[in-house]
Amino acid sequence: MTQLNKTVVLTGATGVLCSEFARFLARSGCRLALVARSGEKLAALREEIAAAGGVAFCYAADVTNKEQLLAAHRQIVQDLGPCEVLINGAGGNHPAATTGSEAYRPGEGAAPTFFDLTRAGFSQVFDLNLWGTVLPCQIFAPDMAERPGCSIVNISSMAAFSPLTKTPAYCAAKAGVSNFTQWLAVHLAPCGVRVNAIAPGFFLTRQNRELLLGPDGTPAPRTAKILAHTPMGRLGRPEELLGALRFLVDERLSGFVTGCVLPVDGGFSAYSGV
Ligand SMILES: NC(=O)c1ccc[n+]([C@@H]2O[C@H](COP(=O)([O-])OP(=O)(O)OC[C@H]3O[C@@H](n4cnc5c(N)ncnc54)[C@H](O)[C@@H]3O)[C@@H](O)[C@H]2O)c1
Repeated sequence: MTQLNKTVVLTGATGVLCSEFARFLARSGCRLALVARSGEKLAALREEIAAAGGVAFCYAADVTNKEQLLAAHRQIVQDLGPCEVLINGAGGNHPAATTGSEAYRPGEGAAPTFFDLTRAGFSQVFDLNLWGTVLPCQIFAPDMAERPGCSIVNISSMAAFSPLTKTPAYCAAKAGVSNFTQWLAVHLAPCGVRVNAIAPGFFLTRQNRELLLGPDGTPAPRTAKILAHTPMGRLGRPEELLGALRFLVDERLSGFVTGCVLPVDGGFSAYSGV
């Protein structure tokens, strides 16, 4: 495969899906700016990539913190030059915005109910997934304007197409990410920056472990439901997202594709359940 040869900023870089993206992009000849909150995990990933012959620099920043992102941006421009591809990978749900039961019946089911959820819990999940996508776009997209071959890839979810039980804030935030992807694609089209999203189906990672596995590590009833609704009958493997990623960031393959939310889901979004 021909090399991509781009400077890529990747947020949430140490997560399960995005660390797979990082290894792949490094193998594809990209220079990586790995952005995440934990310096230790970042350093371990950077060393792994360097040991395999790749180029990666680390920047500790919270995607909801403008000052930290601006500082990371200044340093990235010094170390690697302007950002050519931004991948907004940081995201996830939080227990403070999750109901204990799938459906409400007064006096029954596990707490918290929908009626117990707080603005703080909702805000935390909105901030991370939606604002934590908007803010890096504000900071890094100006580097890309009117430079050939630049694009943004956001990470949406099946939860954006139709909501998943128990996670109202995450679903609304990811619907916001899909909608914002289309909005920004239109806004930036005249200056040549493409904006797309990948909507992964179900992959076992840190942020959904509590929902997908029981306390003993065996699949939770929720996982059985997911599999029953996934025509391919299994969870995804992180490496199965890489073709979609390569397609979206390589303008030789997708130069006329913008505002697209691409499902990689084993058929989940196509299946009505009947
Ligand atoms: N795993 C799935 O099935 C699935 C499905 C659809 C969408 N997604 C999305 O894929 C993306 C990657 O998630 P993952 O499944 O690999 O989970 P993960 O928990 O392994 O990775 C998420 C990463 O985001 C980082 N992060 C969290 N808050 C942050 C913040 N404020 N600033 C910077 N980084 C922060 C975490 O530290 C972690 O490294 C997320 O946006 C997630 O919502 C995952």
